Amino acid sequence: MSPRINPLLLVSALLDVAATANIFVSHYSGTIYSLTLTGSGSEYTLTQNSTLNVGGQPSWMTFDSDSRIIYASDESTSGSPQLTATSASKDGKLSLSGKATQPGGGVHNVLYGPGYIAVAHYQTSTISTYKLPLSSGSSALQKFTLTMSGKGTNPSRQDAPHPHEVIIDPTGNFLLSPDLGADLIRIYSIDKSTGKLTACPSFVEVGGTGPRHGSFFGEDILYIGNELANTVHALTVTYPTSGCLSLSRIQSLTTLTGNKTAPSGTKVGEVHVKDKFLYVSNRRDLSFTPNDSMASFSLDSAGKMTFQQITSSGGTYPRTFSINKAGDLVVIGDQTTANVVVVKRDPATGLLGTQVASMRIGSVGQAENDNGLSAVLWDE
Ligand SMILES: *[C@@H]1O[C@H](CO)[C@@H](O)[C@H](O)[C@H]1NC(C)=O
Ligand SMILES: *[C@@H]1O[C@H](CO)[C@@H](O)[C@H](O)[C@H]1NC(C)=O
Ligand SMILES: *[C@@H]1O[C@H](CO)[C@@H](O)[C@H](O)[C@H]1NC(C)=O
Repeated sequence: MSPRINPLLLVSALLDVAATANIFVSHYSGTIYSLTLTGSGSEYTLTQNSTLNVGGQPSWMTFDSDSRIIYASDESTSGSPQLTATSASKDGKLSLSGKATQPGGGVHNVLYGPGYIAVAHYQTSTISTYKLPLSSGSSALQKFTLTMSGKGTNPSRQDAPHPHEVIIDPTGNFLLSPDLGADLIRIYSIDKSTGKLTACPSFVEVGGTGPRHGSFFGEDILYIGNELANTVHALTVTYPTSGCLSLSRIQSLTTLTGNKTAPSGTKVGEVHVKDKFLYVSNRRDLSFTPNDSMASFSLDSAGKMTFQQITSSGGTYPRTFSINKAGDLVVIGDQTTANVVVVKRDPATGLLGTQVASMRIGSVGQAENDNGLSAVLWDE
């Protein structure tokens, strides 16, 4: 062996050849899947490993890697919607470990506390919280029914408050909820010991913005993807010595090349920050007909976004995506075409590269319907 070769690097290079990762997928038909991704370079294979029917319309998943539990919120509005806890073994086997009755229209959930979970309910204008572990018959710790006076600027979409996500700030002291219907970022302070939320003054967005999802960049910057305006906003975050967190907008950009306005029918989906880059999924923009797109921005230290790149989502209606910890792979969940797509990412430049795997999961959906694939996550 050449004295210049570091044996540890050699071992990690050999391991990389057989890299394996698990991916969790939820489908609106009521099923959670675990997939295994194997491969390296440009040769990757996805295989379906295990499935579990949790019932209802699972819309979103949060994975707690310590307990290895997947929490899925239920978007159904009839019957008895359930927030479910699914245990995932390291080899991908899934089994139901708990559930709680939740209000209908659950579209997103987040862990906080520790020991608590919050759910955003779009269709029923509610934010609810639960103490963990979930057990059959357990009910909400708190339920906030949101109100607004009259309809919003976009009356057909803004007929009522529609909280779309629940986000915990990096200090863990506040919960934020972009309200698509009311053009607000709702803000709550958290009592970490009791899990109780207390409402703070909301941040008011421009009428017709339709804030949907957000992602923090450090402690002091928050990006929000706006489903109705098809923009992404950079907000600065101010923490109080006591009292409430407050926000202030510093920048607004569209999610297409050259700050172009999105074609009618486009709906910004998910946003994620990874290191000094921001990624946004564009649903129904058809930038890569018949496929939709992913937009990326580089971020300076003050949080200012510079548009970087637009790439194919490899399907239609990319409702969800997840970047792995190493930052070299992104899994995209295309809802309507119900396919899981894996693309390469350069951790240094943030650029997304070629598609290395794609797999159809369950039945395809119809555009604008709550069917098809709902969420994707790395098991890590
Ligand atoms: C899932 O895939 C892994 C890796 O290929 C395998 O070892 C395991 O047995 C599979 N599990 C199930 C439940 O099929
Ligand atoms: C980009 O478009 C947004 C939304 O229309 C607008 O608010 C912003 O001023 C534009 N920015 C630039 C640099 O053109
Ligand atoms: C659209 O996505 C499919 C599936 O991932 C892929 O096979 C096809 O090449 C893509 N087409 C374009 C134009 O991006």
